Amino acid sequence: MGKSFDVRLDRLLVGLIVSAMLVVGTCDAGATAETLDGRAIVVRECAGCHQLRPPAASTFETLLDRTAPDLFYAGSKFRQEWLVDWLQDSTPIRYSGVVYLNHLGSVGDKDRIAVDTVQSCSAKLDPERAEAVTEYLMTLEDATMKTGVIEPGKKFSKPKALRLFRKQLPCIGCHTVRWGKRVMGGVSGPNLTDAGNRLNPDWVYARIENPQHWDPKTWMPRVEMSHKKRELLTLFINTMKSPARIDLEKRDAVAQGSAAPMSVFVTREAASRSEAEKNYRLYCVQCHGSRGNGRGINDTAGGLPVSPRNHLYAEEMSQLSDEELGMAIAEGGDAVQKSGLMPPWGETLSAQEIDDLVLYLRQLCRCEAGG
Ligand code: HEC
Ligand code: HEC
Ligand code: HEC
Repeated sequence: MGKSFDVRLDRLLVGLIVSAMLVVGTCDAGATAETLDGRAIVVRECAGCHQLRPPAASTFETLLDRTAPDLFYAGSKFRQEWLVDWLQDSTPIRYSGVVYLNHLGSVGDKDRIAVDTVQSCSAKLDPERAEAVTEYLMTLEDATMKTGVIEPGKKFSKPKALRLFRKQLPCIGCHTVRWGKRVMGGVSGPNLTDAGNRLNPDWVYARIENPQHWDPKTWMPRVEMSHKKRELLTLFINTMKSPARIDLEKRDAVAQGSAAPMSVFVTREAASRSEAEKNYRLYCVQCHGSRGNGRGINDTAGGLPVSPRNHLYAEEMSQLSDEELGMAIAEGGDAVQKSGLMPPWGETLSAQEIDDLVLYLRQLCRCEAGG
């Protein structure tokens, strides 16, 4: 509550400052490249949607209020060349919207993306303004990020990286990637087919190492791995340079017609829900579905090679003990001889939160262990 109020107050202040500036007459219409003030443009034209100052949303409720990605670490995140170009002609990066929970629709018993509710970036700057804005955005850095960690040209084993990326780790569960002609993977995270053009490799490394440092309520899990593996993933992602538009229709990921966002999981009454239910919504629904039936936006039709488990199916769920459920959640599919697409959540959620999720799953399946 307090946070979201602060954010609004923030935006109000920005609005007041902007109005004041307009009155004083610092409007730069017709200005030349030398006098363009990137910061002023950003404050005036971008701050209404984008947050330019930390902190990032740290509660479920404030997260749902996010309308655009945070830009206060843009200088650490992006490649300057990409930013200049993209701001002149922005293309979609997040097909399921900035917060996927705000854009769920349904087709039968499947969650699908209500594409007509998804907003893209409204920036369409001319080259000079794009330069000026980029120059300013590149000054917004995270001072704690280690730089010089990744040496972009370093050789690596592609087969090893592929195995890690598509088999052992859950990455393609949420991210679309391209192998040769094939475009595959989930859609609850940003499209990575073009990530090598877009992102600073040191930032990619840091984002994988600790997603919650950048965004405390991100629905990407923190996955424990060695420096070598993280470096391998980063070098691999750095080679992804094919701007591919995802054809959601073809992959049956779209709610047809004018799908209204689903209200069940998106209501602001979330505050009154149990923590376990909130955690299930934020972290599990993307694959297991808002009904828990295994038909989330990232499902087999939506691009995954293995179906997420149907948590409503009592016959199967009762064959798993509470310990087994807890272990699958904490350590992921790979640790329990299941698909590595099931992510490990033990570095993201506390032991208590995982125990509570097990209880929540028992409510969903209306079943007990060994029943
Ligand atoms: C009406 C709201 C809105 C305004 C105004 C807006 N943006 Fe955006 N912006 C978005 C949304 C929504 C996205 C996410 C698009 C996507 O992921 O496909 C986005 C994405 C971006 C990204 C990519 C961020 C990332 O982490 O991937 C950048 C950079 C950006 N905007 C810069 C700007 C700048 C600079 C301006 C002002 C000139 C601006 N935006 C104005 C809504 C807005
Ligand atoms: C459960 C879903 C999920 C899984 C699994 C997942 N991610 Fe993510 N990932 C996300 C989300 C959500 C974001 C950030 C969303 C945003 O910026 O709006 C993200 C962001 C990223 C980014 C930054 C992309 C960008 O354009 O901002 C990279 C790189 C990335 N993930 C790599 C990985 C790798 C490597 C793995 C496997 C170890 C992985 N992810 C596993 C959901 C996931
Ligand atoms: C990136 C997609 C994805 C996300 C996110 C995800 N799961 Fe899964 N989950 C799967 C897949 C796929 C399977 C099926 C694995 C198999 O059958 O080989 C699975 C299986 C499971 C199982 C059964 C494991 C077993 O031993 O049979 C449980 C329990 C489970 N998930 C709980 C959760 C919970 C709780 C969350 C949220 C904290 C979650 N999952 C988030 C994809 C996901």
